[in-house]
Amino acid sequence: MLEPAVAALLASDFDARRWRPGVAASPRQGVWVDGTFGRGGHSGALLAGLAPQARLVVFDKDPQAIAQAHALASRDPRVTVCHQGFGTLEATLAGLGIEQVDGVLLDVGVSSPQIDDAERGFSFMRDGPLDMRMDTTRGPTAAQWLATASESEIREVIKHHGEERYAFQIAKAIAARRAQQPLSRTHELAELVAGVVRTREKGQHPATRTFQAVRIHINRELAELADALAGALNRLAPGGRLAVISFHSLEDRLVKQFMAAAANPGAASARLPLRESERPQPVLRLLGKRFAEAQEVAENPRARSAVLRVAERTTTPLPAPAQAYLPAGSRSPNLQGTTA
Ligand SMILES: C[S@@+](CC[C@H](N)C(=O)[O-])C[C@H]1O[C@@H](n2cnc3c(N)ncnc32)[C@H](O)[C@@H]1O
Repeated sequence: MLEPAVAALLASDFDARRWRPGVAASPRQGVWVDGTFGRGGHSGALLAGLAPQARLVVFDKDPQAIAQAHALASRDPRVTVCHQGFGTLEATLAGLGIEQVDGVLLDVGVSSPQIDDAERGFSFMRDGPLDMRMDTTRGPTAAQWLATASESEIREVIKHHGEERYAFQIAKAIAARRAQQPLSRTHELAELVAGVVRTREKGQHPATRTFQAVRIHINRELAELADALAGALNRLAPGGRLAVISFHSLEDRLVKQFMAAAANPGAASARLPLRESERPQPVLRLLGKRFAEAQEVAENPRARSAVLRVAERTTTPLPAPAQAYLPAGSRSPNLQGTTA
């Protein structure tokens, strides 16, 4: 998803359905945002397509990713580094004195280095401390949350963020277990869930959904994504692009619904007797979606569930803050978690 995502931001005639590799655009001026620096693959490719006076603001929650971003910034003065969640995008840009941006890229979720490092606690395959924080400098760990949250909160998180039908049984087992001894290791949680979830989709570990749910909760992933989408739309210049790569259906549904509402705001009022001039006008134009190519999936099996969605800001002024285009409940307080 590297090449199409970068083309989605920089190529003036980008169309997700028709895009083919290898067409280089002329270097672009302007201000650009990579909300998920990671190891800097997308940022590096973006910088290659930007002019010497352009600016790239990069975000990540992860201190290791931020250390790499600082190393890049020391070599390339176009880069500004923000150790922040991308949910703060609008406020952070305002703090930098940036009113408008030309493109925002979000490649959401966890990175391969995070999953592969047992000490980060993201993987049920590798035993490690039950941490799961992208930002290891703040907020409660998964172990701390599982030790203190009510059984009903744990159940709701596993049910909604994991779409897990055994959420009731898993939460009950966690509560019974912690009354004896707190859960502190990934293998302890994985084994406990495996003991409760007896039927499972083919090829999937029984703890997959529980780990996904706890991770989403600990990192406030959906609330951050909702804030970032609205913040990006509030700050995009006319013609500016928003490109989001997501890895699971909860994220992709949020992105899809947000972009559709901003691209077709008249749908809600279609049956009302309004004059054409009174109907709400699109503030985004959809440029389509793409899945990873077979070759990319062969090289990196995690890419098989990746979806890239792209939209372009129109010239219509926003009639209200862009939060209005978020689906109802996308910032539901009982599922937002507690990390900042
Ligand atoms: C899939 S990786 C991105 C990889 C990156 N595009 C690259 O080319 O290396 C996701 C990264 O986003 C970061 N991340 C996820 N959610 C975040 C959030 N809400 N705010 C800031 N960074 C976030 C993670 O820490 C991780 O480093």
